[in-house]
Amino acid sequence: RPKIGCVKDLAESSDFTSIPSKYSYSTTLNQQDVVADEQIPIIDFSLLNSNIPDQRAKVIQDLAKACQDWGFFMVINHGVPESLMERMLDMCTDFFNLAEEEKLQCAEVDVLAPIRFGTSFNPSVDKVFFWRDFLRVRTHPQFHSLPRPASFSEISLEYSKRTRHVARELLKGISESLGLEECYIDKAMELESCYQVLIANLYPPCPQPEIAMGLPPHSDHGLLTLLIQNQIGGLQVNHNGKWVNVHPLPNTYLVNTADHLEILSNGKYKSVLHRALVNNKATRLSLAATHGPCLDNVVTPVTELVDSENNPAQYHGMTYKEYMEALLSNHIHPKSLLDRIR
Ligand code: SIN
Ligand code: FE2
Repeated sequence: RPKIGCVKDLAESSDFTSIPSKYSYSTTLNQQDVVADEQIPIIDFSLLNSNIPDQRAKVIQDLAKACQDWGFFMVINHGVPESLMERMLDMCTDFFNLAEEEKLQCAEVDVLAPIRFGTSFNPSVDKVFFWRDFLRVRTHPQFHSLPRPASFSEISLEYSKRTRHVARELLKGISESLGLEECYIDKAMELESCYQVLIANLYPPCPQPEIAMGLPPHSDHGLLTLLIQNQIGGLQVNHNGKWVNVHPLPNTYLVNTADHLEILSNGKYKSVLHRALVNNKATRLSLAATHGPCLDNVVTPVTELVDSENNPAQYHGMTYKEYMEALLSNHIHPKSLLDRIR
């Protein structure tokens, strides 16, 4: 097993005012960046099931606009109980509160291991470490879980099912928004075997937040990521070259379109860069659920969206599995893989 130490335990054990140099990401972080406060689009999920055709048409239009202009949107009225979301976040907190030795038992070297605890992004290749501990648990097509904390299995099973349902319904709306049949993406990507991973991220308070980074700019693999978080901000979304602060809203999923939606839409819906900053006051917790195609699916631009003369295919096909292995074994780097399969 790799020798790693968690940021949480480092932050709690040391009485330091400057961070160890391997966590020093930049000396000028944020200074040249333009930060803006703009409203991320809101999607009312309940309207997707509306019997009134106008309402469904309206929300499909909202989805098209959100995916094209932002690649990020907030989903309200999703039908998942708020108490389940809260319990799921509490379970993640309980996990990170376990003793360091116990957490390190799931510090797998294999980047696609069903359960993997870690720190930074990929400590075996990271030159600079990030101020983040994480737990990745694969929940579909096979459900995996941890023996402790007690109830983690029960809560994460329910949470992963409910969240997957929301993701698949959103993808039906997105399919229509691209002018495709409602179930086109669901069938083509074999979403009955959708590859779903829960990734819990913990960002402890950092004594030098202006030079450390929680998670550097990146896009996500897969089709859609559904994120929930505690009330501490830090996530920023890139919009027209500016970094937009995300203000966490309770009982809301923050959704982003990811790399494989960019590939299948032939670049119409972009996978957008985002990053997580840290602060010196409070611990930030987020939980991302990534939803990708079936692992063996070779993802290519959808033929209906390609036209050899005016809009040729922009990406080469590659299985989702190969894509993810290449991505996770490497440095985290903005859109590195998408640029390589063009
Ligand atoms: C992520 O980009 O996967 C998570 C970012 C966050 O902590 O909100
Ligand atoms: Fe991400």
